[in-house]
Amino acid sequence: MSTILRSEPLAPECGVTVHDVQLAEAEGETLDAIRQAVFEHGVAVFRGQSLSPEQHIDLAKRWGGIDINNYFPLTDTHPEIAVVRKAAEQQTNIGGAWHTDHSYDQVPAMGSILVARTLPPKGGDTLFAHMGAAYDALDEDTKREIEDLEAFHTADHVYKEGGIYARTDIGGELRGQDLQTGATHPVVVRHPRTGRKLLYVNPSFTVTIVGRSREDSLPLLERLFAEARNPDHHARVVWEPGTVAIWDNRTTWHNALNDYQGHAREMHRITLTGEKLAA
Ligand code: OGA
Ligand code: MN
Repeated sequence: MSTILRSEPLAPECGVTVHDVQLAEAEGETLDAIRQAVFEHGVAVFRGQSLSPEQHIDLAKRWGGIDINNYFPLTDTHPEIAVVRKAAEQQTNIGGAWHTDHSYDQVPAMGSILVARTLPPKGGDTLFAHMGAAYDALDEDTKREIEDLEAFHTADHVYKEGGIYARTDIGGELRGQDLQTGATHPVVVRHPRTGRKLLYVNPSFTVTIVGRSREDSLPLLERLFAEARNPDHHARVVWEPGTVAIWDNRTTWHNALNDYQGHAREMHRITLTGEKLAA
């Protein structure tokens, strides 16, 4: 843990809660320490924040570049901010399965800054899984087996016309149905900043091992997913008014729990630019 930040683990293998920081003012060595904490622990939680949309954007700019999301609705006034929203009468939520944002991009987004705006009375937590811990827990034979493999990622089956979301009651709000995506990445990547080995496949967007059919890819992919699904590697973010989470898409998977039917939930997300990934 950093000496600059007062922080404590969110769970034994994943996540960190950072105290005594107002993100609206974070810069310099404080922001450097926050970046390092996010890269290492995968997700950092900050309580009692007050971040206006402008301050949210300024924080993301101080962090690095902003990627504009191609699919989620954008706020009318701030195109940098994507709205992750479920209305009280909607059944389906955004991100309600284990996934890694933007793994279908050639240069996947580094992560996101998610700000809680409207919360249900209870539920709507977000789970995170640490992919360094998941990798470490694989047996040595599996580690050898996946060492030089690459996998193909796409979002077409999720967001395209006729895709998973189009068949739900949030399909009408999403954009980008005509986009085509696809990228190959090593199955095991090295974190560009920490150097830690991370399992970089996920059940939502990774469809094949390069050179294999879908059918021949599934047994190995399922074995890898099973390790990442082990709750030992997980942390749970319980949102409160004023909670902000910053996560790293390389270090973690996440899963937005959809256990608050009949209530609205709205989050503001800014996606942070990443870099090309390598083994
Ligand atoms: C996302 C996402 C999680 C949540 O914004 O990428 O998956 O808890 N959201 O809303
Ligand atoms: Mn997501």
